[in-house]
Amino acid sequence: MKMLFVLLFCTSFLDTVIQAQDNPGSGFISIDCGAPNAYTDDNLLIHYETDEGFIDAGQNMQVASRYFTSIQQLLTNLRSFPNGTRNCYTLPVKQGNSSSTSTKHLIRATFFYGNYDGLWQTPEFDLYIDVNYWTTVKSNYTSSEIIYSTWGNYINVCLVNIGSGVPFISVLEARLLDNSIYSTTSGALQTTFRLNMGSLDIYRHPYDVYDRIWEGIQFAEFTTVTNTTNLDSLKDDNINTYKVPTEVLMTAQQTTNSSVGMGLLWGPLNSTNKWYVYLHFAEIQVLPAGQQRELEVYLSDKTLVANLMLQYLKPVTLSLPPVSGINPGFAIVSKSNFSAFINAVEVFLFTDLPNSPTDLNNVNAINDIKSTYGVFGDLWQGDPCVPQKFTWRGLVCTQDNLPKITSLNMSSSGLKGTIAASFFNLSALETLDLSYNELSGPLPEFLAFMPNLRVLNLSNNNLSGTVPEVLLKKSSADGTLTLRLDGNPSLCLTNCNTSAMPPSSSNNGGEKKQHTIHPLVTAVASAILVLILNKWD
Ligand SMILES: *[C@@H]1O[C@H](CO)[C@@H](O)[C@H](O)[C@H]1NC(C)=O
Ligand SMILES: *[C@@H]1O[C@H](CO)[C@@H](O)[C@H](O)[C@H]1NC(C)=O
Ligand SMILES: *[C@@H]1O[C@H](CO)[C@@H](O)[C@H](O)[C@H]1NC(C)=O
Ligand SMILES: *[C@@H]1O[C@H](CO)[C@@H](O)[C@H](O)[C@H]1NC(C)=O
Ligand SMILES: *[C@@H]1O[C@H](CO)[C@@H](O)[C@H](O)[C@H]1NC(C)=O
Ligand SMILES: *[C@@H]1O[C@H](CO)[C@@H](O)[C@H](O)[C@H]1NC(C)=O
Ligand SMILES: *[C@@H]1O[C@H](CO)[C@@H](O)[C@H](O)[C@H]1NC(C)=O
Ligand SMILES: *[C@@H]1O[C@H](CO)[C@@H](O)[C@H](O)[C@H]1NC(C)=O
Ligand SMILES: *[C@@H]1O[C@H](CO)[C@@H](O)[C@H](O)[C@H]1NC(C)=O
Ligand SMILES: *[C@@H]1O[C@H](CO)[C@@H](O)[C@H](O)[C@H]1NC(C)=O
Ligand SMILES: *[C@@H]1O[C@H](CO)[C@@H](O)[C@H](O)[C@H]1NC(C)=O
Ligand SMILES: *[C@@H]1O[C@H](CO)[C@@H](O)[C@H](O)[C@H]1NC(C)=O
Repeated sequence: MKMLFVLLFCTSFLDTVIQAQDNPGSGFISIDCGAPNAYTDDNLLIHYETDEGFIDAGQNMQVASRYFTSIQQLLTNLRSFPNGTRNCYTLPVKQGNSSSTSTKHLIRATFFYGNYDGLWQTPEFDLYIDVNYWTTVKSNYTSSEIIYSTWGNYINVCLVNIGSGVPFISVLEARLLDNSIYSTTSGALQTTFRLNMGSLDIYRHPYDVYDRIWEGIQFAEFTTVTNTTNLDSLKDDNINTYKVPTEVLMTAQQTTNSSVGMGLLWGPLNSTNKWYVYLHFAEIQVLPAGQQRELEVYLSDKTLVANLMLQYLKPVTLSLPPVSGINPGFAIVSKSNFSAFINAVEVFLFTDLPNSPTDLNNVNAINDIKSTYGVFGDLWQGDPCVPQKFTWRGLVCTQDNLPKITSLNMSSSGLKGTIAASFFNLSALETLDLSYNELSGPLPEFLAFMPNLRVLNLSNNNLSGTVPEVLLKKSSADGTLTLRLDGNPSLCLTNCNTSAMPPSSSNNGGEKKQHTIHPLVTAVASAILVLILNKWD
């Protein structure tokens, strides 16, 4: 059989806009990065928010004014990140119903350089999704899309400076997908192309409830089939499980006659790449009574993967087994008197996600600590431990399948307030250095019950009250904890009543403390306690 193959090179898909009538469902997060105000895009019917609440770092910028009239409002503003190696947006996504359910999102990041910095030099930088590499952004106008599952209640999208210019971003969007579609056993799927065969238009929201961008294409090798009659039954979600918009299914391309097959090949030719392919079919022509279009689908290596009988207005999505090799592609052959035919094609590049994120309890605890003290806003972004080269300042973590924080050094960081309960949840913590801050209030007892804690430095703060006996015991009797409390003038080592203490000079208080310490010292004579005593006043 003769085969007509068309060869496509992976392009990035840019947007156009079409009028319409709906409102996005929940499950959309839409950020017009760098925008001064939130607004609703009248064409997309999507409400775009500012960066506020999604990221602490960066600065709002505008593209050069010469572009204002020729681009969408969405692309006018951007946010750039001159400081820091890794800057992350945190997208609060819906969590699955139980801990065993993940949620799946389509995440799309768009970049329009537009000479915003007057340098005429498009920067190059990396994009990460949570703890894993996503892609490298190189072009002055590009968009990258990934289908990604998570168990957590947020997704981090990080821009990483690789020394080739200042990272920036124009638009960031997340769309909640049904868990049953675009399934992979692991990894994520990056959109290579999404073609609306036989059309010249681009469709996205509100036509597409998931706001996928369907690029219209008419290959000259094939003929175009259109049925513009209102084909509402294509919308039936029970059949159209991928919710491909009617407007996309309403057009198709076919071969000029049934003895010719049709195929699609794509590049770039990297044999290590693995592709996921989804073919969307819907018969839109009324065929003679009792006749159906019958198609066979092959991979480019001629493996037969499916046999389909199309039924009038009954959409079918065919998910091909992963395709790899230097000539990735597929072919459709007719087994009936009607031509080979297809309505829409999606091709994704499989993206491995080798890094595991930090233990969720640790992440929640350290984020709580970050927000409690309001420090390190732009230094502490994204996952605290992973990738290792971006571990947060002051942290040391285990490097295994479930990284946990073993050391936390927030010395001289301007911490104010009491010692947060969240420290307790850093279950693997061995070293905690909170010295040289302005921490006040009592010394919480839970510090004595942190199973792995070996070093606790609280020196030079403003702690008050009585040191819990269990804590002293750990440092003195057991000798399992190196405890430093020096430089806390209002702290009492044994059961002294601070509120009853005379508000006299600190010398007085110091003497009191030394007296009360004495029995303990004699009892155990711990070198650590001696050290504390030496530094006490
Ligand atoms: C970058 O760092 C400098 C110096 O710390 C600071 O003045 C400036 O505001 C920072 N810029 C941004 C965008 O964070
Ligand atoms: C989660 O729960 C909601 C409401 O309880 C339900 O509508 C939805 O189908 C559930 N989703 C999953 C994936 O179980
Ligand atoms: C983008 O880069 C291309 C070539 O690299 C250049 O021709 C084009 O003018 C640039 N566009 C913008 C908006 O900077
Ligand atoms: C079908 O198309 C092929 C290639 O264009 C051509 O060689 C062949 O003659 C055609 N057959 C019919 C029945 O039109
Ligand atoms: C092919 O892909 C692999 C893995 O993504 C990459 O390491 C390699 O550099 C690529 N080769 C070429 C020639 O692009
Ligand atoms: C288009 O669809 C309408 C409605 O289902 C049908 O009546 C008509 O025959 C179709 N047109 C073609 C060319 O098949
Ligand atoms: C295909 O068309 C031929 C004549 O053109 C006819 O004899 C044959 O029955 C048709 N096949 C089917 C499956 O309808
Ligand atoms: C914490 O960092 C400071 C410097 O910022 C250093 O002097 C101190 O030794 C560190 N603490 C620990 C326990 O390593
Ligand atoms: C500590 O972790 C537990 C269990 O995950 C959680 O319920 C609790 O709220 C956390 N406490 C703090 C102070 O973060
Ligand atoms: C806090 O105490 C620990 C243990 O003695 C020590 O290693 C660390 O350097 C101290 N931190 C500072 C800032 O001196
Ligand atoms: C230390 O705490 C006391 C109250 O316990 C307060 O009066 C004092 O101002 C604090 N000192 C500093 C330096 O923060
Ligand atoms: C501590 O002081 C409070 C109020 O000043 C008093 O009620 C309490 O009895 C005192 N406790 C001890 C152990 O002295």
